[in-house]
Amino acid sequence: MSWQNKIDLGLQQRREAAAYRRRQVNDGANGRWLQTGVQQYLNFSSNDYLGLSQDPAVIAAWQQGAQRYGVGSGGSGHVTGYSLPHAQLEQQLADWLGYPRALLFISGFAANQAVLTALTAADDRILADKLSHASLLEAAAHSPAQLRRFAHNQPDSLQKLLNKPCSGQTLVVTEGVFSMDGDSAPLAAIQQHTAAAGGWLLVDDAHGIGVRGAAGRGSCELQGVKPELLVVTFGKAFGLSGAAVLCQEPVAEYLLQYARHLIYSTAMPPAQACALQAALLRIQQGDDLRQLLQQRITQFRCGAADLPLQLGASETAIQPLLVGDNQQTVALAEQLRTAGLWVTAIRPPTVPPGGARLRITLSAAHQSEDIDRLLEVLYGVSR
Ligand SMILES: Cc1ncc(COP(=O)(O)O)c(C=O)c1O
Repeated sequence: MSWQNKIDLGLQQRREAAAYRRRQVNDGANGRWLQTGVQQYLNFSSNDYLGLSQDPAVIAAWQQGAQRYGVGSGGSGHVTGYSLPHAQLEQQLADWLGYPRALLFISGFAANQAVLTALTAADDRILADKLSHASLLEAAAHSPAQLRRFAHNQPDSLQKLLNKPCSGQTLVVTEGVFSMDGDSAPLAAIQQHTAAAGGWLLVDDAHGIGVRGAAGRGSCELQGVKPELLVVTFGKAFGLSGAAVLCQEPVAEYLLQYARHLIYSTAMPPAQACALQAALLRIQQGDDLRQLLQQRITQFRCGAADLPLQLGASETAIQPLLVGDNQQTVALAEQLRTAGLWVTAIRPPTVPPGGARLRITLSAAHQSEDIDRLLEVLYGVSR
């Protein structure tokens, strides 16, 4: 098949499945609002769970960092890109989360790719929750290890895989809070099974860090679990972008030798590390924001109980309304948009076939009346 035919066919397949993805230019978005031209929408699709993308102290820290260090890091951390703000942030994260080391990455996607591909060899296996984020499943598929997936949030299914022989090492992979469903992994049982089989556990807590557990330390803290590898990302509750891997000293040193995403990629700007330090401080003192977020979640779930659409079993800021059909989901999202609400239709392959949904995300930046409005419109369009 020629390049032209291959590309035409791929595009046609996406259109026919009502799964064609388009980006929408906006003039600014935060935990509460999204602006396009003169039109302003209430934003229920952002991962800015605590509203920190607009926090004045975080913005000021970025500005001061840029004044002091310029706007770019100038290189990989292995060359000249590792500055004092990076080192300070790594230490602060390690202290806060109770690990000897933290390593910064440019994104969660890069962190997951780096860890899974650098740590595993051909005789190893990666056992991943079936609904793990694409960055984990793709990393596992690209790694030299064998990938097996266990049924979503089912430690028994994991146990069956663990019982099978493996000549190398086992890495079990799951999320703290699942990105498309908002449900939480049973981390204690997963860790128990993993440890009993002599494996290591990696928890990607992109959607739990900052919002779950005491002082926002995330899903692992909430469930009393300490995985060998903890991935936290800064594009959600931190309100910025980037990620860190928390681990033991030798693992950090090993990743510094072998993780290609660290060695061959420009480090995040030092000013961003300054802003992340300010965001971390706000998160550590953020009980007020977490309480506000919890109020919005409770308000939404109580109000949505009688909707004719199925509400996912989620206690978190991610509240999916399951529709199933792609076209119907897109039509609902468009009706919401007409009413001034921004809710993205999530379709396969981001979710399993038949799993199209409205992925509603809530933020401490929302007002109570925003949730009332969302519910009012949802009842109107789903009857
Ligand atoms: C669970 C999970 N892991 C990793 C990522 C990737 O993180 P980043 O956006 O920092 O690349 C995401 C992003 O959506 C995610 O939901």
